[in-house]
Amino acid sequence: MNTNPDVKIYEYDAVIVGAGLAGLAAAKELTEAGKRTAVITKLHPLRSHSGAAQGGINAALGKDDSTELHEFDTVKGSDYLADQDCVELMCTKAPETIRWAERMGAVFSRDEEGDIAIRPFGGQSKPRACYAKDRTGLAVLQAIYEQAHRAGIEVFDEWYAADLLYEDGKVSGVAAYDIRNSKPAIFNAKVTMFATGGHGRAYRFNSNAHANTGDSLSIVARHGLPLEDMEFVQFHPSGLGGSGVLISEAARGEGGRLFNSEGERFMTKYAPNAMELASRDVVSRAIMEEVRQGRGVGKDGQSVNIDLTHLDPEIILTRLPELRELAIAFQGQDMLKEPIHISATAHYSMGGIPTNINCEVRKSPTEFVEGFYAAGECSCVSVHGANRLGANSVLEALLFGRHAGENMVKKLDEGIELRKATVADADVMLAEMNQLKTSNGKERVPALRTELQDGMTANAGVFRTKESLEKQIKLIDRLLKRFKNIRIDDKSNTFNTDLQEAIELGHMLEFSKFIVDGALNREESRGGHYREDFPTRDDKNFLKHTYAYMDKDFNLTHEWGEVVLGKFEPKERTY
Ligand code: FUM
Repeated sequence: MNTNPDVKIYEYDAVIVGAGLAGLAAAKELTEAGKRTAVITKLHPLRSHSGAAQGGINAALGKDDSTELHEFDTVKGSDYLADQDCVELMCTKAPETIRWAERMGAVFSRDEEGDIAIRPFGGQSKPRACYAKDRTGLAVLQAIYEQAHRAGIEVFDEWYAADLLYEDGKVSGVAAYDIRNSKPAIFNAKVTMFATGGHGRAYRFNSNAHANTGDSLSIVARHGLPLEDMEFVQFHPSGLGGSGVLISEAARGEGGRLFNSEGERFMTKYAPNAMELASRDVVSRAIMEEVRQGRGVGKDGQSVNIDLTHLDPEIILTRLPELRELAIAFQGQDMLKEPIHISATAHYSMGGIPTNINCEVRKSPTEFVEGFYAAGECSCVSVHGANRLGANSVLEALLFGRHAGENMVKKLDEGIELRKATVADADVMLAEMNQLKTSNGKERVPALRTELQDGMTANAGVFRTKESLEKQIKLIDRLLKRFKNIRIDDKSNTFNTDLQEAIELGHMLEFSKFIVDGALNREESRGGHYREDFPTRDDKNFLKHTYAYMDKDFNLTHEWGEVVLGKFEPKERTY
């Protein structure tokens, strides 16, 4: 052991890792209730990926809409895998959550009557995406950050949380280091929450920020705790052709149409009623099928066209200004004048750290970890099941982040003992850092990462088969071995991004194995998980959640967990 006396130990009531919407909303609740709360984040909070959410946040505010319809659409969109108790909570609390965000200072776009404007998104029976132009996430994030700051949260930004303090079924904080100078510390707390966001960087073609490397997933899994439903990765239908950068679903919500190279509006074949506003899994598969059939556009034929030129330019200029700028900057295509090239891009993880409706982390389908909470994209509360509806993620992060904060306050008020940490709690983190810095192997981080990302896109993407998934498992196993032989050049303690990227790559390799293994075990097609060799949904055998566990040699085992059903009986989905 490397027990290092220089490890600083901080003590808090609550420690939260991640400062996007979920983390900040929870921190605000805790701090306002007088609980000393530390927020640890590898980025400044305003650079969190929540700020990249473009198109909207759902709430049944429309005159002929209802929270029950929102529930129905969410459950149907999930291909009936969502837990219906959690969906009910989310949809019934959505309108109040929007009003709360507005009171916090989030400025939403307005309709002609001065009410919060709503627009249609995929899979919705009624328009219900509230928005702030096409910068919705940023508008809400800035407001919640300001209010959390005003409440007095303590932010440790540019700190990297590398390990969880987990002993005897109880979590008591995290081990972290300061990215500025590599100084290690323990954040010892009575309650701990992970709100670290998504993991889209495991795919070559993705819409995610560079920071979205899914660190917390494998940190949890390294302690023998399960991950749930990791096989369900969402591919957003519209990433810019060459880069995967997001072109919001709002583009289709405002009337954008999809065309293949033959000028055919191909959604007539795949979703004749909903057309471009079918759920994301359906539209993404349609796009990729057109590309596979040789009807793609662009230099490499890997994209389709989205056309908005028939819209009143005012709509684009006032409601989609950022999308227009992005397409001009990345592709030199002006959506006012011409169709732009898009393709399905890895966007969101429906699976993650399993929690119950109160955001308490599960140790198994039926047991819980004391003092440990998770919310937002890194968690699986399961409101999205096998496929998330657009504009339900900002809602989930904000609503369940706040809910987790309230539940942690309750837990602290009921009384929960602090397991006193010691400097030895940093040993695992320090050993990992030391090993990576001193290793003189010949493998390099960027090369391994590229192989992983290319493989995930090719073998565990929109379409999957037993063969492609087995190929990817073998590739990951090879990469995990090669990772032991990694070398980084920067041996310093100052802003060592070489080291950080190496640690992140280790996490990406490990949680990617959960994605692929889950996809291999699930011999059916449901939501975002499409097995060409098992093209139909099989409720008899697979209407259940995957819980997967990893051992020290990266071998995975799994068991099944029950889906919480409710008023909506599983039915065949049509759009
Ligand atoms: O398309 C979008 O604006 C993305 C929204 C979402 O993922 O919820």
